[in-house]
Amino acid sequence: MTSGGDAQGMNAAVRAIVRAGIHAGVEVFAVQEGWQGAIEGGEQIVQLNWSDVSGILPKGGTMIGTARSPEFRTREGQLTAVENLIERGIDRLIVIGGDGSLSGSRELCLAWPGLVQELVAAGRLTPEAAAAHPRVAIVGLVGSIDNDMVGTDMTIGTDSALHRITDAIDAISSTAESHRRTFIVEVMGRRCGYLALMSAIAGGADYTFLPESPPRDGWEDRMVDVLGRGRAAGRRDSVIVVAEGAADRDGEPITAERVQQVLLDRTGEEARITILGHVQRGGTPSAYDRWMATACGVEAVHQVLDAGETDEPMLVGMRRDHVVSVPLLQAVEDTHRVADYIAEGDFDAAIEARGVGFTT
Ligand code: F6P
Repeated sequence: MTSGGDAQGMNAAVRAIVRAGIHAGVEVFAVQEGWQGAIEGGEQIVQLNWSDVSGILPKGGTMIGTARSPEFRTREGQLTAVENLIERGIDRLIVIGGDGSLSGSRELCLAWPGLVQELVAAGRLTPEAAAAHPRVAIVGLVGSIDNDMVGTDMTIGTDSALHRITDAIDAISSTAESHRRTFIVEVMGRRCGYLALMSAIAGGADYTFLPESPPRDGWEDRMVDVLGRGRAAGRRDSVIVVAEGAADRDGEPITAERVQQVLLDRTGEEARITILGHVQRGGTPSAYDRWMATACGVEAVHQVLDAGETDEPMLVGMRRDHVVSVPLLQAVEDTHRVADYIAEGDFDAAIEARGVGFTT
């Protein structure tokens, strides 16, 4: 299953999982359209064979569809999903998704025995079917361009998105140079500034705003000063990268429009805004996202087939270019801790807890 926002490289993971599963001698099914597909059941759950995943490696998005499912958060949604999965004999699941999808999957895993009992009591499941599927084994792969999950150095899609953003900044720089203009580029990353920080470094930007590191008071003057000094040194363009979740220390969003207004008020310059939007999430995956998703997909199959009845759901990811697995609960809790620190205004703790990419 792929769930939540799509990400380049999800297809590589799907292909690896299908083929590693078949190689291990099991039947592999796709639950299409994420958890929503599990709730809908029927034709949304399809068996995939070796050739069904041919040719998808270089394609962006996910061939099995994805969705954000509000219904899955309800008890009835979860009951129906479990009912449909058991009906198809499915009790081992690999979920490729972001933080929300993976924490939801873990909750379902814990709730599974109770949901099964409730289905039997309601006459929706036979006691025999319930006895044959007392638990579900879940393994998660992180598919999200944001790189916002603690427990893996990189999430599937991040590298491709970073390439796309860097290409865009290069393109913007050339037109900005011609006109001696300032551009403000807004990039994705709701709660994580990885894409903004790394693209600012890779694209040689002048200034960046990140959710984990809100600027101290007086940032407006400092930003104008930095840009001014660049121009005085002969630079013809200025580029500012703003993460979509950036805010100041009072929690007021720092949007591209706000930065534009600051520049207009203080320098009289009419800076241009480029919001990259979903272009960052679409298109062909990078080589890294293809091989990384493939390696993690194969490991996820091993993990899910080896899982015992009481095993904690695991997350498969990358640490220092090695495929690793960590408890899903730990990864989800650590990820939420970063968000809590940001909400509390403890930004040093947030950066420390985020780990990768932010240590200097
Ligand atoms: O979580 C991935 C992400 O691309 C975020 O960076 C962005 O804020 C969000 O998804 C956009 O979601 P949607 O595609 O539902 O508009």
